Amino acid sequence: MPTDLPAARSGRSALEVARDAARAAGARVRERFRKPQTVTVKGRGNLLTETDLEIERFLHETIRAEFPDHALLSEETASTTDTAGWVWVIDPLDGTKNFASGIPYFCVNIALCHDGDPIVAATYDPNQDELFWAARGAGAWVNDAPARASTNATVLESVLGVDLGYDNERGRALLHLVLELFPGMQAVRISGSAALGLAYAATGRFDVFLHRYLFPWDLAAGILLVREAGGVITDHLGGPIDLRSQTVLAGGAGVHGDLLRLQREHGGEG
Ligand code: IPD
Ligand code: CA
Ligand code: CA
Repeated sequence: MPTDLPAARSGRSALEVARDAARAAGARVRERFRKPQTVTVKGRGNLLTETDLEIERFLHETIRAEFPDHALLSEETASTTDTAGWVWVIDPLDGTKNFASGIPYFCVNIALCHDGDPIVAATYDPNQDELFWAARGAGAWVNDAPARASTNATVLESVLGVDLGYDNERGRALLHLVLELFPGMQAVRISGSAALGLAYAATGRFDVFLHRYLFPWDLAAGILLVREAGGVITDHLGGPIDLRSQTVLAGGAGVHGDLLRLQREHGGEG
C-alpha cells in the first residue's frame, strides 16, 4: 500500500478532493429533494432518478479533472471497473428510495481505494449537513468531531441498524434473524441507506449494523470509517471483508462479537 496519498492536479490532497466533492454533490442532491423527478424502476424498491445520473456525472467530471490517471467504479455508469490500482468507488446517491419518497435519509458516498483497499472515505448526509470522513491512519470524523464505534458489550444494550437490500431471500434471512433476536435489544432501525448505516456504526449511533446484499459502492467508504473509528467490520459470518463481500456486520468490538455468538446460537447464519 502506498504510504502517501496521491495529490490532485489542483495541489489538494485526495482527502480534500473527496470531502469537497461529497459536500458539493450533496448540496446538489439536497436542491433536488422533493422536486418532480424522472424515475426509472430497476426492481422492487430499486429506483433510478435523474438526480442519481446527474450526480454521478458531476462526480466523474470532478474527480477526472483532478486525477486523470485514476479509475472510477460507480453504480450507474461504471459498475464493472476492475479494482486494481487507484480507484474511486462512488455511490452518487445512496438511499434513492428514501430520496424519491421524500424521506430525508440518504447520502453521497465516495471512497478512494488502492488495490481494493479503502484509503480515503467521505460519506455526506446533506439533510443533517454531516460529513463522515476518514483517511487511513488518521482516524474517523463527523465534521470536526472524532467518530468512535460503540463500546457496548451486548446486543441487549444496543440499537441494531439493518437494511434489507434488493435480494428477497437474503432480506428475509436477515428479518428472520432479527425476529429470532427480538426483543433482545433496545431498538431495531431499518434505515434505507446502507452507506449511512455504516457511517452510523462508525459513530456508535447504531451499535451494530447488518446487511446481506451490498455492492462495492455501498461498502467501500464504510469499511474505512468503521475501522478508523475503532470498530470491527466483517462479512456476516465474521470473516474478512473486501469490496466484493456483499454482506456486512459492523460495529463496536463487543457487540459485534456478541451478535456473532447469538447468530450462531439461533442458526441465523444462512
Ligand atoms: C441501496 C440502499 C438500501 C440498501 C440497498 C442499497 P441505492 O442503495 O443503500 O438502503 O438496502 O442494499 O443497494 O440503490 O439507494 O443506491
Ligand atoms: Ca445509488
Ligand atoms: Ca447504494
